[in-house]
Amino acid sequence: MSAADVHADAFVFFGASGDLARKQIFPALHAMVAAGELDVPVVGVAHSGWTVDDLRDRAKESCLEHGLQDDDNLKKLLTLLDYVDGDYKDAETFAALKKALRGASRPAHYLAIPPSLFGIVIDGLRGAGLHEGARVIVEKPFGRDLASAGELDEVVERAFPESSIFRIDHYLGKDEIMNLLYFRFANSILEPVWNRDHIDHIEITIAEDFGVQGRGAFYESAGALRDVVENHIFQIVALLAMEPPSYQGYDAVQQAKESVFRSMRPLTRGDLVRGQFDGYKDEDGVAADSDVETFAAARLFIDSWRWSGVPWLLRTGKKLAVTAGEVIVFFKRPPQVLFEDAEADTAPNYLRFRLSPISEIALAARVKTPGQEFTGTQREFVLHTESPLERAPYERLLAGAMEGDRALFTSRGSVEAAWRVVNDVLTDHDEALSYVQGTWGPEAANALASEWGGWREPMSDTEVAGSATGTTTTQEKS
Ligand code: BG6
Repeated sequence: MSAADVHADAFVFFGASGDLARKQIFPALHAMVAAGELDVPVVGVAHSGWTVDDLRDRAKESCLEHGLQDDDNLKKLLTLLDYVDGDYKDAETFAALKKALRGASRPAHYLAIPPSLFGIVIDGLRGAGLHEGARVIVEKPFGRDLASAGELDEVVERAFPESSIFRIDHYLGKDEIMNLLYFRFANSILEPVWNRDHIDHIEITIAEDFGVQGRGAFYESAGALRDVVENHIFQIVALLAMEPPSYQGYDAVQQAKESVFRSMRPLTRGDLVRGQFDGYKDEDGVAADSDVETFAAARLFIDSWRWSGVPWLLRTGKKLAVTAGEVIVFFKRPPQVLFEDAEADTAPNYLRFRLSPISEIALAARVKTPGQEFTGTQREFVLHTESPLERAPYERLLAGAMEGDRALFTSRGSVEAAWRVVNDVLTDHDEALSYVQGTWGPEAANALASEWGGWREPMSDTEVAGSATGTTTTQEKS
């Protein structure tokens, strides 16, 4: 049993005065207290000249901003909180942390800080012996490319074995993403058709109708490919494409996913269209001549027995027409045309997973229209519609890390294999094409998907809510 297999006896978060803490960590800690999952010292660390009262004020503010009540759970969280202020380069900061930990022997250290500071903090922890018996939780982005991800791994591994490293991709903590794994392997009807013989292509869209929301400086160092494709979308691909795990447990799922990342064919220039919304260059922190993409569309192939020749059409972007996450698995057309049904050729059967904000699973099939003619329409049978969200991803992930459950975290092998797929096109790519806000990105993205009938536009949430029960007639491909 490794140190990470048992419940942590303290929670430490670096970057306590930062944005992530305010937006995600405090509400998650509150929920963990409410669920009876957090009853250990919680120590925030930052270099802001704060006191513990400042941290408590921030925690309270953050929880109230998230609609939580000023109740006993909040009071309890505030009493668990402690604070250490200091420079991460200074050994005294870590000596003070050791004192605040009051003898805890299995702390979880959460690095909610920029990756450039990881090395300094890891060395500080090691210098004070605070790595022993401990685990570390690491935020995305995990590197900027293959080389920097490898360097980061080495830095973290200076103090922690792989089994004590919890790499966060918050998509893995989402219920609708967990449902992909469940739906695939809790049902037997899928497996016979879940392969290149029956599946024509798969589309994955993560679209946002908002922009960079004041994160221009961060976004300049990322872009859509790094920010969403290489991690969140690839994780979705891996869950859909993986072989059945051969036993219950974290390792089996990790290995199966890692094999998918390893069989992804590295993207080349022609597989990628990059776009930038009009007005991006006027955002704070963005260079006047920026070529960073706020939209990316890619055509990916997985060179495996199961998936050979099946294209995965992936796209994401900011300032698009709607906010929606959707996966559509298109099946092949019937091998012979038996009916005078013009549409049948353009509307194949599909399975649709709407991920967010409203999550849905729907199966589309053709049914005959009443009357003399042998013609029909495509109807969707909606298997499940659910509004988010009984448990926020960060709560689930932090609770998992505290428990030592690695099921929702990524492995070094997967992270590096995923970087390998995009590594060349991070630098070898066409320029980002401008697109009008509120559209579906640059025109050129359509060419990428035209051979497979073009992209299907996800519905807005209002449309989904309006068609949420039973069967519906589907939108055709645009
Ligand atoms: C983050 C990206 O990882 O994921 C953001 O940095 C993006 O740019 C976000 O908006 C999307 O996550 P969610 O949970 O809102 O779909």
